[in-house]
Amino acid sequence: MRQETQIELLGRALDHIDRRRSDADGEPFELPVDRYLDPSILERERALLRSRPVAVGFASQVAAPGDFLTHDHAGVPLVVTRDHDGVLRAFVNACRHRGARIADACGHAPRLVCPYHGWSYNLSGRLEGVPHRQEFAGVDLEPRGLIELPVWQRFGLIFACPTPGPATRVFPFADDLEELSTHVLHAPSERSRRMNWKLMMDGSWETYHFRVTHEKTIAPYFFDNLGVFDFVEPDLRMVLPKRSIVDVRDDDPATFRLRTHANLLYGLFPNTIVLVQPDHAMVVTMWPTAIDRTTLVAGMLIPEPPQTEKARAYWQKNEAIFWSAIEEDIAMGERIQSTLASGANRSFLFGRCEHLIGKFHRILDRALLDATSR
Ligand code: FES
Ligand SMILES: [Fe+2]
Repeated sequence: MRQETQIELLGRALDHIDRRRSDADGEPFELPVDRYLDPSILERERALLRSRPVAVGFASQVAAPGDFLTHDHAGVPLVVTRDHDGVLRAFVNACRHRGARIADACGHAPRLVCPYHGWSYNLSGRLEGVPHRQEFAGVDLEPRGLIELPVWQRFGLIFACPTPGPATRVFPFADDLEELSTHVLHAPSERSRRMNWKLMMDGSWETYHFRVTHEKTIAPYFFDNLGVFDFVEPDLRMVLPKRSIVDVRDDDPATFRLRTHANLLYGLFPNTIVLVQPDHAMVVTMWPTAIDRTTLVAGMLIPEPPQTEKARAYWQKNEAIFWSAIEEDIAMGERIQSTLASGANRSFLFGRCEHLIGKFHRILDRALLDATSR
C-alpha cells in the first residue's frame, strides 16, 4: 500500500477514535427482505457470476508451466492452466468431442487428456491428439480446441470470466493489494452454510456487530463500532483500527505501517473478500448454491510455504483465530436466514454506520440490471 494512503487512513482512523464515531454516510436506509428470498433474484445473481470476472483460485496453484487447477462454483466448469510458454490460460473444462469433463482437482500434467475417448489438448487448449482420427475424416478438427476464457492473475489470486469474449476488470484498490502478489496459498478450505450468500457479504461491511457478536473472540482488539470505509466502484475497503493504533500517533509517518495496527478488509465485487492482516491475508469467496445455501471457498495467502513445524503451527493458529470469528458471523447469518420467511420483516433497517452494505447492494442491483439487459 502506498505510504500516502497509509498515512491518510491513519489520520481518518485517529479522527474517528477521537470523536468516538465510525465512518457514516447518508441516512439510515432499508432493503427489502425479498432480495434474500426470491428465487428469480438468485437466478439473476447466478447469471451475473457467470458473466463477470470472479476469483477462481490462487496464483501459486498454477505457478509453473504444466500446473492446472479446476473450479466448479461459478456455474461453468473451469480449468486454468499455465502453458508451456508460461502463459496463464482458462478454459471451459469440457471436451470438444462429446463434452466429458476433462480435468479434476489441481495438479501438474504435460497435457489435458479427456478420460472418455482420449482426446488430448495441449495446455494452450489446442486439440492435439484424436485416437482413430480417420473416424473423423472430412471434419476440420482445428477449431475444436478448448473454449478459452478471459483470465487474470492479481494479488496472488486467479480471476477468470466464465463467459468467453472480451472482459475487463479494474481493481481500484490494486495499490493496496499488490504486496500479496508473491504470496502463496496455504490451508485451502471449503464449507457449506445455511444462509443466503448476501447475508455473509452484509455481515462483512460493518463493525457495529463486533462488540456483541465477537465479544469473546476479536472484539477486545478493536474499537466499538469504528471503521474507516471506502467504496470505489465496484470494490469496498474497510479499515479496522486495532487499539494499538493510538500508540503510534506521534511516530514518524514515513515508517508507519497500517497493516500492523489495523486489519484491512477488501470486497472484490461481486463475491470475494480479502482480509489483510500484518503478515498474511485470508481470502473467502461466497458462492450461492441455493437461495438459502452458500459455499465458502477460502484460503490463506502467506509469504512462503511453511518449512518448519513451528511455521506450520503459527499459520494454523492464525487460521483458527480467523475461522473462530467468521463462524460467529456465519452463525448470525444463519440466524437471520431462519427468520427471513416468517414475515416478521418486510424490509431490514440499516444504520448510517452500515452504509457500505447499501453500497454493495446498489452496485449489485446495477450489475444485475446490466447482466439482464445484455
Ligand atoms: S468426450 Fe472427450 S474424448 Fe470423447
Ligand atoms: Fe464479524
